Amino acid sequence: MRIDIISVVPELLESPLGHSIMKRAQTKGLLEVYVHHLRQWAVNEYGQVDDYQYGGGAGMVMMCEPLAKAIDQLSADRKYDQVIYMTPDGERFEQKTANRLSLSENLLIICGHYKGIDQRIRDHYVTMELSIGDYVLSGGELAAAVIVDAIGRLIPGVLNDETSALTDSFQDDLLAPPVYTRPADFRGWKVPEILLSGDLKKVEEWRYEQALQRTRERRPDLQEE
Ligand code: ADE
Repeated sequence: MRIDIISVVPELLESPLGHSIMKRAQTKGLLEVYVHHLRQWAVNEYGQVDDYQYGGGAGMVMMCEPLAKAIDQLSADRKYDQVIYMTPDGERFEQKTANRLSLSENLLIICGHYKGIDQRIRDHYVTMELSIGDYVLSGGELAAAVIVDAIGRLIPGVLNDETSALTDSFQDDLLAPPVYTRPADFRGWKVPEILLSGDLKKVEEWRYEQALQRTRERRPDLQEE
């Protein structure tokens, strides 16, 4: 999968996408991420990409022209499955969205800043608007990093143990059960007997029960849908 990201602060994306599993995904050639600085499509030699909003009011708006040029240029070389705009008023990004987007070949993500991007770009270029939650970040970069991570780890071969993505919280509308590792007794706090029993069927049943119980206690809404 290839993901192109348009940003005015590309540095914000380097660290979250340059380590651990996202780094491995890229090293293995399973995921390509290209971050493009919007200023290369600026309207003048001062690197201008934003302007005052019509109608007055505080805060700058990202201009049509740099974004349109950026999207046109990138789209000339490949067809994007989605042109995504990160915005708090977008559709809530959930595991199901990540599952669906992980089947894409090419994604283009636009990170907004200031008051956001000119509505005409949203109307004429953007095909999907995503929010990572009901709070406002200073820009779309951290939100973009969140969705690239959630999508990238689902690409087959990215996780070492492929089944581990299937047992994540939210797959099957269930939270993940508790997990334990050595030692079996730490300060008198014991690992549940059943996990030491070697009876895989019983372990599976126990995990399912725990997942159900945790979901009922913490996120009953997941089971109501
Ligand atoms: N940009 C600013 N806040 C955001 C949010 N909550 N989700 C996605 N993009 C954003």
